[in-house]
Amino acid sequence: MCNSIAAQAVCGKDQHITWQEGAVRREAKERALQQRGCVIWFTGLSGSGKSTVACTLEHALFNRGVLTTLLDGDNIRHGLNCNLGFCEEDRAENIRRVGEVTKLFVDSGLIALASFISPYSRDRDNVRARLGPRDFIEVYLKIPLEMCEARDAKGLYKLARAGKIKGFTGIDDPYEAPENPEITLEACSADGRPQCPESMARTILTYLESHGYLRAPMANNAVSGPARAIADWAERKTPVLDYSI
Ligand SMILES: Nc1ncnc2c1ncn2[C@@H]1O[C@H](COP(=O)(O)OP(=O)(O)O)[C@@H](O)[C@H]1O
Ligand SMILES: [Mg+2]
Repeated sequence: MCNSIAAQAVCGKDQHITWQEGAVRREAKERALQQRGCVIWFTGLSGSGKSTVACTLEHALFNRGVLTTLLDGDNIRHGLNCNLGFCEEDRAENIRRVGEVTKLFVDSGLIALASFISPYSRDRDNVRARLGPRDFIEVYLKIPLEMCEARDAKGLYKLARAGKIKGFTGIDDPYEAPENPEITLEACSADGRPQCPESMARTILTYLESHGYLRAPMANNAVSGPARAIADWAERKTPVLDYSI
């Protein structure tokens, strides 16, 4: 499987392909949405809380009228990447494809939340380089292995320790921690208090606000365009589905 994917990538470069420009620019979409597109890339061990924090953050953003999309490692392996395994080469291809998908969303002005173990620095850095400086926000869930293993929400650590899963990150496969992530989330705050998923999501929200990705919170009636529709939907002021044109 690994070989065929490498072959496809080489084959793609041999085609005579010309880039087709769209008629609606990213900036126009961002203006309409009143937000700046980016990917929030969650990396960390299995059980570190990537999915939980991403879901919590997406909910908070939705309630503010922000248009998002959520890409989760387990879900993507059910579809787009169902033909990939966990060898180093397939993990690289997994992350490359997801990076390309997030780029499509970001170029449409959305805030994409991607939660993937993404254990290799090189794979994450390739996505960062592909997206560009302000479009990739790396969030490192710096949770000790012992804590992730104690949670063992899916029972996978138990299976890995018993040798029933091979190549499990943190057990018999490497995890390369980010060296310069935009945000590091730890199990406890500086004063030793445990950090719940809500407070972790709040940290990211504050980053997005202070770095200009979101419009400043404003009186709800000052919001317009698609952002208005999302805000109304979030507050259930309009019917959930309206088929009238
Ligand atoms: N900040 C947190 N504090 C305590 N428990 C958490 C926190 N974040 C996640 N969890 C719990 O840890 C387990 C694993 O979380 P999950 O989001 O599935 O991890 P991942 O997506 O990184 O594999 C879940 O049971 C979740 O409820
Ligand atoms: Mg997960």
